[in-house]
Amino acid sequence: MPVEIHRDMADLKADFTIDQHWDSYTDEEHATWRVLAERQVPLLKDRVVPEFLAHVDALSMGGGGVPDFRRLNEVLEAETGWNVVAVPGLVPDAVFFDHLANRRFPATCFIRSMEELDYLEEPDVFHDVFGHVPLLLDPVYADYMQEYGKGGLKADGQGALRRLARLYWYTVEFGLTRSEDGLRIFGAGIASSKGETVFALDDPSPNRIGFNLERVMRTDYRIDDFQETYFVIDGFEALRRATEVDFTTIYARMEDTPDFAPGEIAETDTVLHRGTGRYHQGKGRATA
Ligand code: PHE
Ligand code: FE
Repeated sequence: MPVEIHRDMADLKADFTIDQHWDSYTDEEHATWRVLAERQVPLLKDRVVPEFLAHVDALSMGGGGVPDFRRLNEVLEAETGWNVVAVPGLVPDAVFFDHLANRRFPATCFIRSMEELDYLEEPDVFHDVFGHVPLLLDPVYADYMQEYGKGGLKADGQGALRRLARLYWYTVEFGLTRSEDGLRIFGAGIASSKGETVFALDDPSPNRIGFNLERVMRTDYRIDDFQETYFVIDGFEALRRATEVDFTTIYARMEDTPDFAPGEIAETDTVLHRGTGRYHQGKGRATA
């Protein structure tokens, strides 16, 4: 049935948004969301930052089916002024940044098929909404995302998008944080993936390294598999402090510095866990 209506380009508005067409989701599509959410919630219990699951509850997205963005927005708007807007797929960088800078989170609204629960070639509504939206209820994280959007518009004009994209990747998508209860997940790419939820925290293979802004912006990443390295922040407040400086001089300084491969460890790193690298070696493509 109409999977297509949730990625209908003909519908596209000037800001690349479309209508979610929530009424058009099939029972099977809602069931797919339920299966994914009911699998992630218990798995995330002692692995994700505790506020994440509280926010999943506050947004009623734990079971029930694909959330209606209008309902999410009632809660988000009241709490932190954010809104989720529906888009048919990836949008141009400048459009994406402009949405974030205005506290709008662009989310796809189609959902993967039941046959491909663990297989994702591009983000779907489960990744975008279950993974990204809960933390938009956290005031500090909510500010960080908006500032990132503004920083993106600026970086675009400074030829620094590749640098800034790495920051997003290693925080918003694949970030870990540490507190008294040890390491916790906050990255959406991890939190929406059954396999990576376990791998990122429990597997001896990947490196876990203390967050350092320049180090992160110099580090390549893989888009096709689990990460070889996860960077660990000391909470959202520390992340905000580390990123509120003007990046202009940092970008300039980095022009002459070499990049790090995804699995590489630098002498100056704060290594929390030196990965065995086994997972990627087994696939014959470790990078360091
Ligand atoms: N401070 C950054 C700059 O000057 C912008 C930014 C803020 C980027 C927060 C990411 C997160 O470009
Ligand atoms: Fe994402």
